Amino acid sequence: MASSSSSSSQKFKIFSKHSTIIFFLYLFTFASATLKVGFYRSSCPNAEAIVKKVVNKAISLNPGAAAGLIRLHFHDCFIRGCEGSVLLKSTPGHPAERDHPSNFPSLQGFEIIDEAKTYLEAACPNTVSCADILAFAARDSARKVGGINYAVPAGRRDGRISIKEEASRLPSPTFNIEQLTQNFAERGLSKTDMVTLSGAHSIGAARCVTFSKRLYSFNTTHNQDPSMNPKYVAYLKTKCPPPTSNVGGQNAQPLEVALDFTTPNRLDKQYYVGLTKHEGLLSSDQILLSSPSTSKLVLAYAKYGSIWASNFGKSMVKMGSIGVLTGSQGEIRRHCSFVN
Ligand code: HEM
Ligand SMILES: *[C@@H]1O[C@H](CO)[C@@H](O)[C@H](O)[C@H]1NC(C)=O
Repeated sequence: MASSSSSSSQKFKIFSKHSTIIFFLYLFTFASATLKVGFYRSSCPNAEAIVKKVVNKAISLNPGAAAGLIRLHFHDCFIRGCEGSVLLKSTPGHPAERDHPSNFPSLQGFEIIDEAKTYLEAACPNTVSCADILAFAARDSARKVGGINYAVPAGRRDGRISIKEEASRLPSPTFNIEQLTQNFAERGLSKTDMVTLSGAHSIGAARCVTFSKRLYSFNTTHNQDPSMNPKYVAYLKTKCPPPTSNVGGQNAQPLEVALDFTTPNRLDKQYYVGLTKHEGLLSSDQILLSSPSTSKLVLAYAKYGSIWASNFGKSMVKMGSIGVLTGSQGEIRRHCSFVN
């Protein structure tokens, strides 16, 4: 955000030396590249209310849906920007992001987005993008399970490309702090954003296959990850048997171990409290406490939940602006799983 606004004021100075026509052209490009709160106010006044209704219903039926929807928006934004590429289905000869092991089979919530899209197409055909539905649905989830509310700038358009292999650029739970920082920085997100957004792991779950190395075969000198609370390890071993060589079978495991086992369905600061007790499920969670450059923020969030909650909204908005398509770029998909 900060870097893009400073580069636009630089452009402003350069352009103002030239003719007014160029100046107005510049204003026009700038305006079309910006998301706006209330973007659908006149074109589809009920857009946000429709998404909210579908999301609230889905979460009342299954509290885990909130986690799925927030993660969907994250996985969308980190690959090709927030343009709905994560929603596209593979077509013959063109495997899509959705089928990458980072997404399949654990990414969930697609049918909730489809349901919202069906209602939106009935109310206002060809108007509301799937990328915006993802952003609204993530916010509505945060509101429903965390009481966290924030305005979502909209006006994203949908991309037409999704390539399975590109999903390998999502951060890995085994990354060290430099790799994590780098991965977020490539998308214009700071270390503060990274620590703040990781608080999404206050809800939802992971598969045993994702973290069981930390319990059974950490490295050549330690079977268990020494950064984990031994009581927590013992508890996790009751949920996850030792890994076998049946890797395919393990990948198919359900999401079953809560990322925050104290309040698994509540988006709150307990995730950070858990880290201070060495109860982070993923290595990429616990490392936020063990790294000097991020530990202070973890401790602050563990103490002051309301500061985290307000920062979470801000970082979600920032994440939601990564690489967006606007204006006449891309398209408004009629069905979120397929290009028009
Ligand atoms: C910091 C880097 C991150 C890494 C390495 C990471 C990794 C993971 C992994 C491995 C899982 C479990 C998947 C499985 O076992 O199949 C997971 C789940 C989840 N992640 Fe992240 N994640 C990161 C950041 C984020 C961010 C920024 C968000 C959202 C803002 C997020 C939201 C979620 C949610 C909500 C779940 C639970 C999904 C569910 O229950 O359906 N994560 N993450
Ligand atoms: C194993 O992990 C521990 C704790 O992180 C570390 O101190 C040790 O150097 C590691 N050993 C090897 C062989 O990587």
